[in-house]
Amino acid sequence: MKKEVGHNFLAKLGKKRLRPGGTAATDWLIRQVHLGQDTQVLEVACNMCTTAIQLASQYRCRITGVDMDARALDKARQRIEAAGLADYITVQQANALKLPFADESFDLVINEAMLTMLNQNAKEKAVAEYCRVLKPGGILLTHDITYVKADLAEQLEELRRTIHVQVEPLQVQRWESLFHHAGFAQVTHHAGPMSLMSIRGMIRDEGLLGALRIIRNGLRSENRQQFQQMFRFFNGPGRDLNYIAVCSRKGEAGAS
Ligand SMILES: C[S@@+](CC[C@H](N)C(=O)[O-])C[C@H]1O[C@@H](n2cnc3c(N)ncnc32)[C@H](O)[C@@H]1O
Repeated sequence: MKKEVGHNFLAKLGKKRLRPGGTAATDWLIRQVHLGQDTQVLEVACNMCTTAIQLASQYRCRITGVDMDARALDKARQRIEAAGLADYITVQQANALKLPFADESFDLVINEAMLTMLNQNAKEKAVAEYCRVLKPGGILLTHDITYVKADLAEQLEELRRTIHVQVEPLQVQRWESLFHHAGFAQVTHHAGPMSLMSIRGMIRDEGLLGALRIIRNGLRSENRQQFQQMFRFFNGPGRDLNYIAVCSRKGEAGAS
């Protein structure tokens, strides 16, 4: 049986929010900032642009979305067009580690469910890039996986086998120091139980009909094995995993 990367598999089943804390984490992040029509936003790892579409619909801000995955970006373009938001959101293929934008271009960078997928060196490079492209005083919003128990090696290994990505989640302090070391001045966070595949989380994030459609697609014979493996992990040993949403502010010019 073909094993797909977890987020691609869930997207194929119809899931639109491919992130550990779902809307609980995303809404917390959005509450940390003041968005308006003049806010220049960069969404890194936008995938099919669920968050960008939410932000542009609510605030009419200008958003640039980047992702490495060309197929996800094709889907994003169709969804942006269907939402009538082509004047507000543009997308392009780019690597978070080497962003094709000038220094100090954006007021806000948002990056959900991507840093966890990188090793420590790549995490540092990506966060340094976010700091570079943010204006002084600009805000970085991130959303990732964290955990409290120290002895979680077995669950983390099972997570990697389950989603077919070499993820490296960090404990809260290490997430915070990642942002401090990159030069962010103020770092605050919010954490809670991971809800990606809990029944309650799926209904909250995708609506009742959306959640039922995902489950029905997951139980089709060609998907059943991977769906059940992911469902059992996230509702079993994976319950020790949490989401972390972090808001980091870049220092103002001249401030120490
Ligand atoms: C788990 S999905 C999250 C998608 C979306 N942010 C969300 O929360 O629903 C991770 C995304 O990160 C993208 N990605 C992974 N590494 C990347 C990189 N180095 N640069 C840009 N995008 C990357 C993948 O293509 C994928 O779309």
